[in-house]
Amino acid sequence: MAQRETWATRTGFILAAVGSAVGLGNIWRFPFLVGQEGGAAFLVVYLLFVALIGFPAMLVEFVVGRRTNRNPVGALKELGGGVWQYLGWVFAATGFIILSYYSVVGGWVLRYVLIGLQGGYVGDIEGAGGQFVEAASGLDAVLGHAIFMAAVIAIVGFGIRRGIEFAVQVMVPAIILIAFGLAVYAFTLPGASEAYAFYLSPDVGEILANWTDILPAAAGQAFFTLSLGMGAMITYASYIGDDRNLAEDGLIIVGLDTLIAFTAGLIVFPIFFTGGVDPANTIGAGAIFISLAAALGDLSFGWLIGTVFFGTIAIAALSSAISLLEVVVSYLIDERGMERFTATAIVGTIIFVVGIPTALDLVFIDLYDLFANNILLVFGGLMVSIFVGWVISNVALDEIGRGVRNLGSWGDVWIWLVRIPVIVILFVTIYLGVFEYYEFLTGDFADWLGQNL
Ligand code: PFF
Repeated sequence: MAQRETWATRTGFILAAVGSAVGLGNIWRFPFLVGQEGGAAFLVVYLLFVALIGFPAMLVEFVVGRRTNRNPVGALKELGGGVWQYLGWVFAATGFIILSYYSVVGGWVLRYVLIGLQGGYVGDIEGAGGQFVEAASGLDAVLGHAIFMAAVIAIVGFGIRRGIEFAVQVMVPAIILIAFGLAVYAFTLPGASEAYAFYLSPDVGEILANWTDILPAAAGQAFFTLSLGMGAMITYASYIGDDRNLAEDGLIIVGLDTLIAFTAGLIVFPIFFTGGVDPANTIGAGAIFISLAAALGDLSFGWLIGTVFFGTIAIAALSSAISLLEVVVSYLIDERGMERFTATAIVGTIIFVVGIPTALDLVFIDLYDLFANNILLVFGGLMVSIFVGWVISNVALDEIGRGVRNLGSWGDVWIWLVRIPVIVILFVTIYLGVFEYYEFLTGDFADWLGQNL
């Protein structure tokens, strides 16, 4: 059997994991959730969840991946056997569904880069809304989806070192630099102080009043943004060596991801307030596109700022999408003996086809996203946390201690965080997520079916 690939350098792994974590979740999903869930109140709960739930859950996946050096399906078969191996299938299915619409949103982003270059952002909400619907559904959206998916296939097809590691070495520093530059620009806008008040001064009363909304949204977002719950971090950690400190690497990855999401808020909200857009109305998948275009259309040089901003989002989305595809591809290579390029091309094409409905009608984005993100992703995270926290905790504690000079009692703190708070919060989140999905299926989606069939 051919030698399994590994990362060439430590930074290679960290950059790839940061590249996976930083994506549409940070720059598209995070700001609209902050807008929708009440600004700073959401931010506080989110930060708390990233530290107390997200970070421990990331180490859970690292431990499984590095211990086995296998893809998620193989890893769970080796460590747990029995029913646990099927969890790997849930991961693969989740990655499959998420990538299918993630790529469509990636295609929208590409389209908005183009609109910027043509100086075409419409400067009022209604016009921008029309522009979004036109760009986001129909043939144009299918084309964008195809271009985005082709880029993902090309990078993953080249493999770990020549494809993924090489690509992220350029992409991740570029994302960080441009994001900081844009935040400094946003600081100079007239709406900045109002924006900071909305974004940065939390109201505890608001958290208490809306916790049933804020809690699942924040927990789901913490998972999505850190690429947890579907084996992406298991897969990436399976390519690293034993000599590395997982806790330290995890801290860097979580820290950078959070920094970029936070910075995205520092960019988006000043632009909104300056352009007279109310962030509380930024609801749904189109929010960031519509509101930004409306605000940018009014700014001098808005087209340039928009082009750079959407260009950065496109790069970030690409470096995340490659990790989604790698989960499925690594399985086909390790367990089915397929050749990398063939596996990538076949799976990539199937995912493209599965995503087509979401490019044709926006209602399918919700149908896919609510199911994959709020239910499957959280379910995957819950199961792997139960597995690591309660079933193989001795192995896990041994693994987390490797490559670490002295973790002291932190290993125990970690395992207990996983055993109780992580599991309880994920359980509550999934419970609320199933309810929400049921409401969607019997409400909006049933309406859509009634009108279209
Ligand atoms: N973390 C990515 C983002 O924030 O955009 C999305 C993602 C990538 C989720 C990979 C899950 C995953 F496995």
